[in-house]
Amino acid sequence: MKFFIDTGNLAQIKEANDLGILDGVTTNPSLMAKEGIKGEEAIAKHYKTICEMVDGDISAEVLSTDFATIVEEGKKLAAIHPNIVVKVPMIKDGVKAIKWFTDNGIRTNCTLVFSAGQAILAAKAGASYVSPFVGRIDDSGWDGMQLIGQIRQIYDIQGFKTEILAASIRSALHIIQAAEMGADVCTCPLDSILGLLKHPLTDIGLAKFLEDAKKM
Ligand code: E4P
Repeated sequence: MKFFIDTGNLAQIKEANDLGILDGVTTNPSLMAKEGIKGEEAIAKHYKTICEMVDGDISAEVLSTDFATIVEEGKKLAAIHPNIVVKVPMIKDGVKAIKWFTDNGIRTNCTLVFSAGQAILAAKAGASYVSPFVGRIDDSGWDGMQLIGQIRQIYDIQGFKTEILAASIRSALHIIQAAEMGADVCTCPLDSILGLLKHPLTDIGLAKFLEDAKKM
Protein backbone atom coordinates (compact mmCIF):
# COMPACT_ATOMS: atom_id res chain seq x y z
CA MET A 1 0.00 0.00 0.00
CA LYS A 2 1.30 3.44 -0.96
CA PHE A 3 1.34 6.21 1.66
CA PHE A 4 0.22 9.70 0.63
CA ILE A 5 0.03 12.63 3.03
CA ASP A 6 -3.26 14.55 3.02
CA THR A 7 -2.24 18.16 3.54
CA GLY A 8 -1.10 21.35 1.87
CA ASN A 9 1.24 22.16 4.76
CA LEU A 10 4.86 22.19 3.57
CA ALA A 11 6.39 21.50 7.01
CA GLN A 12 4.20 18.41 7.46
CA ILE A 13 4.95 17.22 3.94
CA LYS A 14 8.68 17.61 4.67
CA GLU A 15 8.39 15.73 7.98
CA ALA A 16 6.58 12.78 6.34
CA ASN A 17 8.92 12.80 3.35
CA ASP A 18 11.98 12.79 5.63
CA LEU A 19 10.69 9.50 7.12
CA GLY A 20 11.40 7.98 3.71
CA ILE A 21 8.00 6.30 3.42
CA LEU A 22 6.07 8.91 1.46
CA ASP A 23 4.73 8.06 -2.00
CA GLY A 24 2.69 11.16 -2.77
CA VAL A 25 0.47 14.01 -1.57
CA THR A 26 -3.23 14.81 -1.80
CA THR A 27 -4.69 18.27 -1.34
CA ASN A 28 -8.18 19.71 -1.62
CA PRO A 29 -9.54 23.28 -1.64
CA SER A 30 -10.14 23.19 2.13
CA LEU A 31 -6.55 22.09 2.83
CA MET A 32 -5.13 24.74 0.47
CA ALA A 33 -7.30 27.47 2.01
CA LYS A 34 -6.05 26.41 5.46
CA GLU A 35 -2.51 27.26 4.32
CA GLY A 36 -3.67 30.71 3.12
CA ILE A 37 -2.95 29.92 -0.55
CA LYS A 38 -5.02 32.35 -2.67
CA GLY A 39 -5.18 33.07 -6.40
CA GLU A 40 -4.31 31.02 -9.49
CA GLU A 41 -0.62 31.97 -9.50
CA ALA A 42 -0.06 31.23 -5.80
CA ILE A 43 -1.93 27.92 -6.09
CA ALA A 44 0.20 26.81 -9.08
CA LYS A 45 3.37 27.89 -7.25
CA HIS A 46 2.40 25.89 -4.16
CA TYR A 47 1.72 22.73 -6.21
CA LYS A 48 5.09 23.16 -7.98
CA THR A 49 6.87 23.46 -4.63
CA ILE A 50 5.19 20.24 -3.38
CA CYS A 51 6.12 18.43 -6.62
CA GLU A 52 9.73 19.46 -6.17
CA MET A 53 9.72 18.22 -2.54
CA VAL A 54 8.11 14.80 -3.04
CA ASP A 55 8.93 12.27 -5.74
CA GLY A 56 5.43 10.89 -6.27
CA ASP A 57 1.91 11.68 -7.41
CA ILE A 58 0.51 15.02 -6.23
CA SER A 59 -3.27 15.48 -6.43
CA ALA A 60 -4.40 19.00 -7.38
CA GLU A 61 -8.15 19.60 -7.33
CA VAL A 62 -10.15 21.51 -9.94
CA LEU A 63 -12.45 24.22 -8.59
CA SER A 64 -15.02 24.21 -11.40
CA THR A 65 -18.04 21.98 -11.92
CA ASP A 66 -18.86 22.17 -15.64
CA PHE A 67 -17.18 19.96 -18.25
CA ALA A 68 -15.48 22.65 -20.38
CA THR A 69 -14.04 24.56 -17.42
CA ILE A 70 -12.93 21.38 -15.60
CA VAL A 71 -11.00 20.38 -18.75
CA GLU A 72 -9.38 23.82 -19.12
CA GLU A 73 -8.47 23.95 -15.42
CA GLY A 74 -7.19 20.36 -15.43
CA LYS A 75 -4.96 21.00 -18.47
CA LYS A 76 -3.38 23.97 -16.66
CA LEU A 77 -2.85 21.94 -13.46
CA ALA A 78 -1.33 19.02 -15.37
CA ALA A 79 1.08 21.42 -17.10
CA ILE A 80 2.58 22.47 -13.73
CA HIS A 81 4.55 19.21 -13.31
CA PRO A 82 4.48 15.65 -14.73
CA ASN A 83 3.59 14.27 -11.26
CA ILE A 84 0.35 16.26 -10.99
CA VAL A 85 -2.79 14.13 -10.87
CA VAL A 86 -5.93 16.17 -11.59
CA LYS A 87 -8.50 15.69 -8.85
CA VAL A 88 -12.06 15.81 -10.16
CA PRO A 89 -15.32 15.58 -8.17
CA MET A 90 -17.74 12.66 -8.69
CA ILE A 91 -20.42 14.60 -10.56
CA LYS A 92 -21.85 14.09 -14.07
CA ASP A 93 -19.54 16.64 -15.73
CA GLY A 94 -16.68 15.32 -13.60
CA VAL A 95 -17.10 11.77 -14.98
CA LYS A 96 -17.22 13.18 -18.51
CA ALA A 97 -14.07 15.22 -17.84
CA ILE A 98 -12.25 12.21 -16.34
CA LYS A 99 -12.96 10.28 -19.55
CA TRP A 100 -11.63 13.25 -21.57
CA PHE A 101 -8.47 13.41 -19.42
CA THR A 102 -8.00 9.62 -19.75
CA ASP A 103 -8.26 9.85 -23.56
CA ASN A 104 -5.77 12.71 -23.56
CA GLY A 105 -3.12 11.15 -21.31
CA ILE A 106 -3.84 13.20 -18.16
CA ARG A 107 -4.04 11.24 -14.91
CA THR A 108 -6.97 11.79 -12.55
CA ASN A 109 -8.13 11.21 -9.00
CA CYS A 110 -11.92 10.97 -8.73
CA THR A 111 -12.82 12.55 -5.39
CA LEU A 112 -15.88 12.77 -3.10
CA VAL A 113 -16.75 9.10 -3.64
CA PHE A 114 -19.20 7.62 -1.13
CA SER A 115 -20.65 4.55 -2.89
CA ALA A 116 -19.66 1.49 -4.91
CA GLY A 117 -21.75 2.75 -7.84
CA GLN A 118 -19.73 5.96 -7.96
CA ALA A 119 -16.50 3.93 -7.81
CA ILE A 120 -17.64 1.83 -10.80
CA LEU A 121 -18.34 5.00 -12.82
CA ALA A 122 -14.92 6.43 -11.91
CA ALA A 123 -13.22 3.22 -13.08
CA LYS A 124 -15.27 3.08 -16.29
CA ALA A 125 -14.15 6.66 -17.07
CA GLY A 126 -10.54 5.52 -16.58
CA ALA A 127 -9.67 7.42 -13.38
CA SER A 128 -6.13 6.66 -12.19
CA TYR A 129 -7.34 6.85 -8.58
CA VAL A 130 -10.71 6.70 -6.86
CA SER A 131 -11.02 8.39 -3.46
CA PRO A 132 -13.68 6.92 -1.14
CA PHE A 133 -14.02 9.16 1.95
CA VAL A 134 -13.81 6.68 4.82
CA GLY A 135 -13.95 9.12 7.77
CA ARG A 136 -16.89 11.13 6.46
CA ILE A 137 -18.86 7.89 5.92
CA ASP A 138 -18.05 6.86 9.51
CA ASP A 139 -19.24 10.31 10.65
CA SER A 140 -22.62 9.65 9.02
CA GLY A 141 -23.10 6.40 10.94
CA TRP A 142 -22.00 3.95 8.21
CA ASP A 143 -18.81 1.89 8.06
CA GLY A 144 -16.47 3.62 5.61
CA MET A 145 -13.99 0.78 5.61
CA GLN A 146 -16.66 -1.66 4.33
CA LEU A 147 -16.85 0.50 1.21
CA ILE A 148 -13.11 0.07 0.60
CA GLY A 149 -13.58 -3.73 0.80
CA GLN A 150 -16.61 -3.63 -1.52
CA ILE A 151 -14.79 -1.55 -4.14
CA ARG A 152 -11.73 -3.85 -3.88
CA GLN A 153 -13.95 -6.86 -4.57
CA ILE A 154 -15.68 -5.23 -7.54
CA TYR A 155 -12.45 -3.93 -9.10
CA ASP A 156 -10.78 -7.34 -8.76
CA ILE A 157 -13.76 -9.22 -10.27
CA GLN A 158 -14.05 -6.72 -13.12
CA GLY A 159 -10.33 -6.22 -13.69
CA PHE A 160 -10.57 -2.42 -13.25
CA LYS A 161 -7.10 -0.86 -13.05
CA THR A 162 -8.14 2.29 -11.10
CA GLU A 163 -6.21 2.45 -7.81
CA ILE A 164 -8.28 2.60 -4.63
CA LEU A 165 -7.11 5.58 -2.56
CA ALA A 166 -8.58 5.44 0.95
CA ALA A 167 -9.24 9.10 1.87
CA SER A 168 -10.66 11.03 4.81
CA ILE A 169 -8.46 8.99 7.13
CA ARG A 170 -8.75 9.92 10.80
CA SER A 171 -6.49 7.52 12.74
CA ALA A 172 -3.67 4.98 12.70
CA LEU A 173 -6.34 2.27 12.96
CA HIS A 174 -7.93 3.52 9.73
CA ILE A 175 -4.55 3.07 7.98
CA ILE A 176 -4.24 -0.52 9.25
CA GLN A 177 -7.82 -1.31 8.21
CA ALA A 178 -7.28 0.22 4.76
CA ALA A 179 -4.28 -2.08 4.32
CA GLU A 180 -6.40 -5.07 5.44
CA MET A 181 -9.15 -4.13 2.98
CA GLY A 182 -6.67 -4.06 0.09
CA ALA A 183 -6.54 -0.31 -0.58
CA ASP A 184 -3.78 0.54 -3.07
CA VAL A 185 -3.11 3.86 -1.39
CA CYS A 186 -3.95 5.51 1.90
CA THR A 187 -3.84 9.30 2.17
CA CYS A 188 -3.36 10.29 5.77
CA PRO A 189 -2.88 13.27 8.05
CA LEU A 190 0.65 13.36 9.51
CA ASP A 191 -0.66 12.52 13.01
CA SER A 192 -2.21 9.26 11.79
CA ILE A 193 1.06 8.23 10.10
CA LEU A 194 3.02 9.01 13.27
CA GLY A 195 0.38 7.15 15.29
CA LEU A 196 1.55 3.93 13.62
CA LEU A 197 4.88 4.34 15.39
CA LYS A 198 3.45 4.29 18.88
CA HIS A 199 3.41 1.34 21.27
CA PRO A 200 4.02 1.64 25.05
CA LEU A 201 5.90 -1.69 25.12
CA THR A 202 8.37 -0.27 22.57
CA ASP A 203 9.04 2.71 24.88
CA ILE A 204 9.32 0.50 27.99
CA GLY A 205 11.53 -2.02 26.14
CA LEU A 206 13.83 0.67 24.78
CA ALA A 207 14.19 2.35 28.18
CA LYS A 208 15.22 -1.03 29.68
CA PHE A 209 17.69 -1.78 26.86
CA LEU A 210 19.29 1.65 27.25
CA GLU A 211 19.53 1.18 31.03
CA ASP A 212 21.08 -2.30 30.64
CA ALA A 213 23.42 -0.99 27.96
CA LYS A 214 25.17 1.07 30.70
CA LYS A 215 26.22 -2.25 32.26
CA MET A 216 27.77 -3.53 29.04
C1 E4P B 1 -8.32 13.65 0.15
O1 E4P B 1 -8.18 13.35 -1.00
C2 E4P B 1 -9.60 14.15 0.69
O2 E4P B 1 -9.91 15.39 0.16
C3 E4P B 1 -9.48 14.21 2.19
O3 E4P B 1 -8.94 12.99 2.64
C4 E4P B 1 -10.77 14.55 2.91
O4 E4P B 1 -10.55 14.40 4.28
P1 E4P B 1 -11.54 14.99 5.41
O5 E4P B 1 -12.82 14.22 5.35
O6 E4P B 1 -10.81 14.78 6.69
O7 E4P B 1 -11.74 16.43 5.08
